[in-house]
Amino acid sequence: MTHLVAMNPYLRDWLSLLVRWLHVIAAIGWIGSSFYFVHLDQSLRFPADVADREAGVGGELWEVHGGGFYHVQKYRVAPRELPDHIAWFKWEAYATWLSGFFLLVILYWLDARSYLIDTSVADIGPWTAVGISAGLLVLAWVAYDVLCRLLGGRELVLAAAIVGGTALAAWGNGRLFSPRAAWLETGAMLGTIMAGSVLFNIIPAHWELIRAKEAGRDPDPAPGLEAKRRSVHNNYLTLPVLVTMLAGHFTFLTGRDHAWLILLVLMLVGAWVRHFYNLRHGGKTHWWMLGAAAAAVTVLAVVLIPDGGSTVPSTAADIAAGKVVFAANCTVCHTLANAGSTGAVGPNLDAVKPAASLVVDRVTNGFGGMPPFAGKLTATQIQAVAAYVSTVAGR
Ligand code: HEC
Repeated sequence: MTHLVAMNPYLRDWLSLLVRWLHVIAAIGWIGSSFYFVHLDQSLRFPADVADREAGVGGELWEVHGGGFYHVQKYRVAPRELPDHIAWFKWEAYATWLSGFFLLVILYWLDARSYLIDTSVADIGPWTAVGISAGLLVLAWVAYDVLCRLLGGRELVLAAAIVGGTALAAWGNGRLFSPRAAWLETGAMLGTIMAGSVLFNIIPAHWELIRAKEAGRDPDPAPGLEAKRRSVHNNYLTLPVLVTMLAGHFTFLTGRDHAWLILLVLMLVGAWVRHFYNLRHGGKTHWWMLGAAAAAVTVLAVVLIPDGGSTVPSTAADIAAGKVVFAANCTVCHTLANAGSTGAVGPNLDAVKPAASLVVDRVTNGFGGMPPFAGKLTATQIQAVAAYVSTVAGR
């Protein structure tokens, strides 16, 4: 399997496309229902009808959507009689995690040498790297679960602990994995916390409600309240996880010094924006909060403006340095007469005669079957190899 997927870029591309498609759809379903239900909870009004109140309804909401009116009621704990048909919301979460995990395996674990590891960051073997990557997912869930238990009722302290833990994870991952993998791993850890809450906490709490009703007991409200607490945490994690997954594709961020700090700022902005909406749906709109988020991103963008230097050097010394970089990194896959290489995994560079800017782009970001070298090679090395290839190709 390793061999098949690592060696067959065509198959890998198909798998990657289809599983990404599934992952994005499932995540839209999951995050969409998280947004919806937290919005609903924040908007509930005291029930108008006395009979409803006596029946245990704690809040209700009228909604208009899709050409009709909906009247939704939330019971304080459970209705007197269990209805025959109840809709559950769990496969969105499971499908998101499972497809995400599968992507992690086919993209990063099966080709750990190219994608997960960066020997200039940490010289670890593929199995070690995969083991650490898997272990961190488990560790994230366990740490979060323990913190929730220890810090019952102290949500602000818990939030600070989660931010601290996330910062530590982002920093640590940046010292273990390639820049892109480091961001993805951090997002995957948070995603695992979210899915873990659904699997081990929220869904079991719902079963407890149902079993109690079926046994004719009064359900214990505690598990339901804990489930609600964790689903609110999940709601705050949605935007941070999404930005991690998306921003990991941008080397202008992941390839920077202190990339973990950039990631942390983006995640905090995401949680903050989520908070704005949760307050707004509860009837308190603070536009300045969105302004503050926009200001934070602007400041970040200004701080990170690249310092010019993007012209490709082409002195004889640069070209000579580029030849060395090419010999060490590119000959296995590419044919280039000047380097005496006959690799046939990628295009024959003598035939392609790529411009320096194309080489910089492909080497930095990778493309199709070509792995990215950002992080593995320095910007200077990439420019040198680009100068070399663009000068000698076809000659
Ligand atoms: C693991 C194999 C592999 C390695 C190592 C590799 N490449 Fe590639 N390279 C590819 C493949 C495959 C493609 C074609 C990608 C596609 O278009 O889908 C490619 C494409 C390219 C292209 C773009 C060609 C075009 O016309 O689209 C350039 C330029 C290039 N590689 C340069 C390099 C340089 C320079 C290095 C060394 C730093 C390197 N490659 C290392 C496999 C590799």
